[in-house]
Amino acid sequence: MIILSIETSCDETASALAEADENGIKIISDIVSSQIKLHSRWGGVVPNLAAREHLKNIIPVIEECMGKADIGPEKIDLIAVTNGPGLIPALLIGTSTAKTLSYLWKKPLIGIHHVEGHIYANFIEDKIRIKKNISKNIYEKKSEGIENITDSEFDFPMLCLIVSGGHTQLVLVKNHFDYEIIGETLDDAAGEAFDKVSRILNLGYPGGPAISMWADSFESEKKNKELEISFPRPMMNSNDLNFSFSGLKTSVLYLVKKNESLLKDKDFIAEVSHEFQNSVVDVLVQKTLKAAEKYSPKTIVLAGGVSANSELRKQLGEAIKDKFPNVTYRLPEAKYSIDNAAMIAAAAYYRWKYSENKNNFLDNWKNLKTEANLKLQK
Ligand code: KG4
Ligand code: ZN
Repeated sequence: MIILSIETSCDETASALAEADENGIKIISDIVSSQIKLHSRWGGVVPNLAAREHLKNIIPVIEECMGKADIGPEKIDLIAVTNGPGLIPALLIGTSTAKTLSYLWKKPLIGIHHVEGHIYANFIEDKIRIKKNISKNIYEKKSEGIENITDSEFDFPMLCLIVSGGHTQLVLVKNHFDYEIIGETLDDAAGEAFDKVSRILNLGYPGGPAISMWADSFESEKKNKELEISFPRPMMNSNDLNFSFSGLKTSVLYLVKKNESLLKDKDFIAEVSHEFQNSVVDVLVQKTLKAAEKYSPKTIVLAGGVSANSELRKQLGEAIKDKFPNVTYRLPEAKYSIDNAAMIAAAAYYRWKYSENKNNFLDNWKNLKTEANLKLQK
């Protein structure tokens, strides 16, 4: 089947076309129009500005998406759209566009939770990636080969570490759409911490890629001996599976305030970025291992914008290989880590596949709700 998907929950106007069947999901067109430049002036996303941009871009983005694939409305079987959580003015542009198309073209419409999309991003084009053997992303089971993992094989329970600008959660997925949130941040999300620290260091928005780049440039022989830069690992050893990142950001802020003149010193920026990133990665990895010990998942999945972080991808992979060699580690292709619409199409395919009442989707042009605080649910 052919699925047209739309995502506008934050600052990316995105549309994708996917071809999905028993063999999995193949993305045939994938357009993302980013508003980063617009929002970077303000150091973060301004909801009404985002909505205005989405409104301007949504039709051209969908047109480009369909044009590139040379697919007209007659070939589309299903429309999917992110209907929450996110910024309401932004979400509404996507959902009202999707509803209009669903009504006009008489196509079923499915609303997808943004985080569910991030999770299912891990199941896009698996077979193709595996066949080409370019999937360094999937850490194969030690005893079996990577060939043994196919995309229709969901090995439940899956433990998902979701790390984005809006979410930091550990979610146990017992079966498709059967979610239990077993841990979450008590304050800032991991991506939000990257963005805030980036602002403190004058590195711009979004902070994740900037901090990560500076962290990579750190050379240990240039370590500042006088300042002894090291940050806490908040809640790393707490008994629960929750997180907290706002104190870590405050530690960076205090250090920078005391040493403002060093903000022009490249070695200082590199070291702070490196130590901050290490701290976040350590906490995320340790908490995921703790959750894995408790819940014995068969698969561990990394998802959300921060999953683009190469240090996190690597450290988590190595820790899982070491401690849980029989657990499959999945992480999305880098282009599907950050917000995109391909992941929404992927989730929609499985929602469609496992739905008993497919006819209901035909009425969603009037019934679908848009919710800023939509919960992950069946
Ligand atoms: O999933 P996403 O694109 O949007 C939300 O759903 O929030 O995640 C965006 C977040 C931002 O906070 C951004 O700084 C972070 O992901 N991010 C990264 C990296 N690339 C993006 N964080 C750390 N390292 C990266 N390479
Ligand atoms: Zn996201």
